[in-house]
Amino acid sequence: MKFFIDTANVEEIREAEELGILDGVTTNPTLLAREIKRTGSKPETILKNICDIVKGPVSAEVTGMEQAGMVGEARKLSSLDPHIVVKVPVTLEGLKTVRQLSLEGIKTNVTLIFSPCQALLAAKAGASFVSPFVGRLDDISHDGMELVDQIVVIYENHAIETEIIAASVRHPLHVIQAAMIGADIATIPFKVIHQLVRHPLTDLGIERFLSDWNAVQTN
Ligand code: G3P
Repeated sequence: MKFFIDTANVEEIREAEELGILDGVTTNPTLLAREIKRTGSKPETILKNICDIVKGPVSAEVTGMEQAGMVGEARKLSSLDPHIVVKVPVTLEGLKTVRQLSLEGIKTNVTLIFSPCQALLAAKAGASFVSPFVGRLDDISHDGMELVDQIVVIYENHAIETEIIAASVRHPLHVIQAAMIGADIATIPFKVIHQLVRHPLTDLGIERFLSDWNAVQTN
């Protein structure tokens, strides 16, 4: 399973890249707005900086609601760097946009997926990726991972090549479940990447090894 990081924070992306585990990045308007506010940089600059660090897909989302506007935004975003994947919400206008962009060879990530029907439609329209939002379904007492499972089965049944990104990941268990179910990718917040590494027995083990070793050092 590929690991994407779900952030627009360049420092976080650089650190995840140094770990050697990073295959791509997803952003959304909320994450990008946070970075614009924090750094004062333009969105185009932030996205270009991200693409300089990660040599994999970098999702950047359109904010228009109509096909013409979304296609225009998508062309501009895609011209920033060959790694840009245009994130489009799963609406009727969004699906038309995905179809048009797929005809133009621009990769898309259809986002805000909350049902298997939406994932099937997105794939038929030509999406390169779909992003089911696991955590936001869990938040309203629905099983977010069940949605990922349904999409995996549907795509396997019909040999659909659209890649499934388990998104809105909130904790390590989501990552494990996504891997076991067979999601192609999990897009993971920086904090959760840190949580994936930590284990209290690892910390305890290091502490004990060091204390045993230091006890026999003479000077
Ligand atoms: O990748 C989608 C993600 O950015 C949404 O996550 O935590 O805001 O539901 P969250």
